[in-house]
Amino acid sequence: MPFRLEVAVVKSLTFKEIRQAYIDFFEARGHVHQASSSLVPRRDPTVLLTTAGMLQFKPIFMGLEKASHTRITTVQKCFRTTDLDNVGRTARHHTFFQMLGNFSFGDYFKAEVIPWAWEFLTTHLGIPTTRLWVSVFRTDDEAFRIWHEVVGVPSERIVRMDEADNFWAAGPTGPCGPCSEIYVDLGPEFGNGNVNARLGEDDNRFLEVWNLVFMEFNRDESGHLTPLPAKNIDTGMGLERIAAVLQGAANNFETDMLFPILEAVAHLAGVSYRNSHAADVSLKLITDHLRAAAFLIGDGVVPSNEGRGYVLRRIIRRAYRHGRLLGIPGSFLHTLVPLVASLYGDFYVELREKQAHITDTLAEEERRFGQTIDRGMSLLEDALAAVESEGHLKGATAFELYDTYGFPFELTVELAEERGIRVDHEGFEAAMEQQRERARSAREKAGITFTADAEIGVTTEFLGYESTEQQDTVRAVVPMGAGKEGVVLERTPFYAESGGQVGDTGVFLLGEHIDPDVSFANHAAKLDGATRVIPVLDTQKRQGAIVHIVETGHGMQAGDKVTALVNSERRWHIRRHHTATHLLHAALRQVLGTHVTQAGSLVGSDILRFDFSHPRALTSSELTAIETLVNEEILTNTGVHTDVMAFEQARDSGAMALFDEKYGDAVRVLSIGDFSKELCGGTHVRATGDIGLFKITSESGIAAGVRRIEAVAGLAAFQYVRGIAQAMSAVSDRLKAGAAEVPDRLDKLQEALRSSEKQVAALRGELAAAKAASLMSQKQSVEGIALVVAEMEDMTGEQLRAAAQSLLAELGSGVVLLAGTAQSKVSAVACISDDLTGRLSAGDLLKVFMERFGGRGSGRAHFAQGGGGNPEQLSAAVASAPGILHDLVRRVPT
Ligand code: SER
Repeated sequence: MPFRLEVAVVKSLTFKEIRQAYIDFFEARGHVHQASSSLVPRRDPTVLLTTAGMLQFKPIFMGLEKASHTRITTVQKCFRTTDLDNVGRTARHHTFFQMLGNFSFGDYFKAEVIPWAWEFLTTHLGIPTTRLWVSVFRTDDEAFRIWHEVVGVPSERIVRMDEADNFWAAGPTGPCGPCSEIYVDLGPEFGNGNVNARLGEDDNRFLEVWNLVFMEFNRDESGHLTPLPAKNIDTGMGLERIAAVLQGAANNFETDMLFPILEAVAHLAGVSYRNSHAADVSLKLITDHLRAAAFLIGDGVVPSNEGRGYVLRRIIRRAYRHGRLLGIPGSFLHTLVPLVASLYGDFYVELREKQAHITDTLAEEERRFGQTIDRGMSLLEDALAAVESEGHLKGATAFELYDTYGFPFELTVELAEERGIRVDHEGFEAAMEQQRERARSAREKAGITFTADAEIGVTTEFLGYESTEQQDTVRAVVPMGAGKEGVVLERTPFYAESGGQVGDTGVFLLGEHIDPDVSFANHAAKLDGATRVIPVLDTQKRQGAIVHIVETGHGMQAGDKVTALVNSERRWHIRRHHTATHLLHAALRQVLGTHVTQAGSLVGSDILRFDFSHPRALTSSELTAIETLVNEEILTNTGVHTDVMAFEQARDSGAMALFDEKYGDAVRVLSIGDFSKELCGGTHVRATGDIGLFKITSESGIAAGVRRIEAVAGLAAFQYVRGIAQAMSAVSDRLKAGAAEVPDRLDKLQEALRSSEKQVAALRGELAAAKAASLMSQKQSVEGIALVVAEMEDMTGEQLRAAAQSLLAELGSGVVLLAGTAQSKVSAVACISDDLTGRLSAGDLLKVFMERFGGRGSGRAHFAQGGGGNPEQLSAAVASAPGILHDLVRRVPT
């Protein structure tokens, strides 16, 4: 590293060595090294991105799941957005970083972890003991005692701190506990210069490197703490920070893990590091954001306007713009992906495996943003120039730039600030909220909403994998709005909408005389008068309850005995579409590559929709290959199997999972031979042959890097194909050609049409010329001025204008006034030659003319046009035109 600082460490280790030393140290103490989990949390839909090593273990801490091992160590990919604005401006802030962690699930506690941490830092990393300080939670005498008595840290270097510093929680609710932090004293030259400063008195001098959390409580929604089932340990040490300390780097970017990227960016920009503060900020920001973006894309995130996709979009765009600030003219981030992959690919294989996909995704986003910047920039420049003197840009203007032109709000703020202009954040938020409100009310008009977030208090057992019918007692009826209510049973065969699969429909039968052997389709016919049939319109999940949606007014109430009967024919259609979706997913990965990740899906009774990450439109041969693969798999009639197993086991078996879904302890894994293995709670066919037929109906892009395939299966596929065949045979009948000859025949017809159109155009021209000639012969003279006035048939305003102008050209000097009626609407135009405009105005002439029959007209000296009025009085007005012209020339008041 070029810029070494004299931090008194005895060893200088590379980041790879530090990483390995950490893993070795904890493996030697009984820990199992587990790979980093994805940046996209698989288990916790409450957080956008993985922010700490403990996140993937939350259910274990909460006692909801059993740990595979009681001691685990990880180097976890983490992403925090809280520091976004500081990245590049400070020495240590990052979006993406790596956290070294060791975890105990009800195994060791403070007495073990504190001495270990000390041993690792001082003996294995070689940090002098005199450089280390520690903090403990104000009331944690036990931790204080261990640090002081067991480890031997002098009591003046153990500082008691409050909850804000020494009580750690992953969020407002969930596992948490007091913590103890270890700090490295970088020396007074890093801080405020006070040689005697203590920890807590000088933020820059004392660098926190390791946080030991004594995870022993759960915090509920009311803020109440209850002890967790076991006492646990969660520690986290930032690899970037500790590397900076050990390498004597002035900031994290000068370590061996980030400096190569920074240098490459500097090289592209033709600037050198440490020459200008502003350029250094840009270099660091790009370094951080590029690395972070590569990791996010590697974990399946695609740029979008929402959620984690938006985080990704934002960092790519910020990095791109800082590239421009450095003088890099166009896209460049994607060219550095191989470098990032070579630095980290040994530990994070996804960077290597998906290198091409990461590069493509970045390149595409850069290209789009380049366009947006070019367009938005000039609009913003105008807007800023207009408010330069006021020093204030309206929130509504910033919103319009964002909403209409896709220009990011943050960028507007940054650019405005560079010119000393403040942007009205509240105004922007208000405009955004108004738009959300409009969207919300549109949604509510369109469908059902749950009115209150009322606690239903029933957990429904789903029986629909095995049956489509169940007798039970109504446990609750909840209001839903829009004339609907929700009926909750304890057990039901109705599938509630989830995982993309639509909710079941069917009926409730109320009454005593229900014959459970009668199939759904025959029920209506066989019911006797004592039984009431209540249609179930949809099924939704609410908390743990499955809610059957029915019209209000049936008087359903808790205690009613019902037979719940799923529309099993419809369910069969859904099953076919669902299994077909799995086949499609697997086929996409086979044909396009394993970067294909599901971004969303809809499984209905007559269509399926599958959204996935892929950088470009599919070619027709790719589509054919995918469709063929799926249909071949259908023809092999492979059995479809479901196994219920622990999540970890499922993941280790290579089952594909949708990251943002929440999975319980036990998950269902759906296997279709060796072709596909996926976590899924939906309903499926027994063997692929049940699907019958699969047909892709469309392929399109729905966002940058996200494609959508729509397809049909089973009967819907048959109907689709039959529809095409019928249309085709109608076409062949009309053309009197066999299907194979149709394209040829159409080409010929089109050719014939084109040549007829040419002839028609030529004839029209001749006709117009003849008409104009005949009008010229009706030329009159009024007060020495040549006037052509005529009523034309079937001519639009535009055609009248063209005709009038060519007549005037022929007249040379004079006035032309043409009026015509097309579809009972009058249009009129007036033209006057240059030499007469001193005496007369076309606008005045047309205005008076139009008034004669109740129309309106206006214009300038040369040309005027008008419309409206009573078509029946038009002829009289045309006859009076010479008189009007006369009066105007003579200036007789009209
Ligand atoms: N969870 C703690 C942190 O993120 C320690 O791993 O700081």
